[in-house]
Amino acid sequence: MIKNKEKYHVAIAGATGAVGRKMLEILEERDFPIGKLKLLASSRSVGKVLEFKGKEIVIEELRESSFVDMDIALFSAGAGTSLQFAPSAVKSNCVVIDNSSAYRMQKDIPLVVPEVNPASIGENPTIIANPNCSTIQMVIVLKPIHEKFKLKRVVVSTYQSVSGSGQKAIDELKNQTKALLSDKEIKTNVYPYQIAFNCLPHIDKFLDNGYTKEEMKMVNETKKILGDDSVQVCPTTVRVPVLYSHSEALNIEAEGPITASEIKNLLKAQPGIVIVDDPQNNKYPLAIHGENKNEVFVGRIRDDISLERAVNLWVVSDNLRKGAALNAIQIAELLVAL
Ligand code: A2P
Repeated sequence: MIKNKEKYHVAIAGATGAVGRKMLEILEERDFPIGKLKLLASSRSVGKVLEFKGKEIVIEELRESSFVDMDIALFSAGAGTSLQFAPSAVKSNCVVIDNSSAYRMQKDIPLVVPEVNPASIGENPTIIANPNCSTIQMVIVLKPIHEKFKLKRVVVSTYQSVSGSGQKAIDELKNQTKALLSDKEIKTNVYPYQIAFNCLPHIDKFLDNGYTKEEMKMVNETKKILGDDSVQVCPTTVRVPVLYSHSEALNIEAEGPITASEIKNLLKAQPGIVIVDDPQNNKYPLAIHGENKNEVFVGRIRDDISLERAVNLWVVSDNLRKGAALNAIQIAELLVAL
């Protein structure tokens, strides 16, 4: 159990990455009670500095010994790095909040979205997993609907920004766009094909069932977070040439009849959700408006004209904030309030 303290020693593993930098920004913004702050990355970044509350902090190399005397470690350096180093953090009595997929589906590891299943954090967590970005923004919307109307099935198509693949992908989209607009040759490293002016129906590896790992994350993590294996999820995940915020088209089917206005009224009252739904005035959630915001934006709420028990929604959220760094820090806030 984490000791009750006035201030906590916090480490960020992967501090130089797109999510790591956002974690730093949000810790400052929310005035998290920090004593010591350690910024960790690979040997490539040693000696570089990042700013926190006006002070420069020098990046150190992530090592097994990095967590001695630390209380909380926020990991966002990929699943391999989490598997390698999180056990050392746990041995040092440092609670790990892991943004990677490494531990999410392990039975004894809580998978937490604070607005949805805060109690699953338990009393004495050692590693807490942060869900996948596309799952987080979807379950925030699904939870109240499932509670009131019992969901049967969700068909979801995602339009995911490149920042979900890290800083290198942000640079790749910018560089490819510049190159294409000036008739120069493009370089492709992060994705198998050009991402500028293109859509890739391929996020993470393909599995034997024809779905990608990202798609199966949405299926399995949703069931675990909602605590109900009966909810069926059928996803298609697509990478689009957008820098920040993921958008999702959801078709949700309940056990009995539901209407768009019932869903709209229900979602209006939920913490963390903002309804932007005035199509007559061209008002609907947009990735560019979601960027750097904490909320999940929902619009285009309309009855499914082909099925009485179903409603369509368009859901947008900043994948680096609610989809990753903010959710992790909200978990840390829950942890210190235990
Ligand atoms: P570095 O910047 O030194 O490579 P992103 O998701 O934006 O690509 O960021 C990944 C983060 O994970 C970066 O901070 C990166 O550090 C860090 N990282 C990647 N591999 C390792 C590793 N083997 N050990 C420590 N940090 C790592």
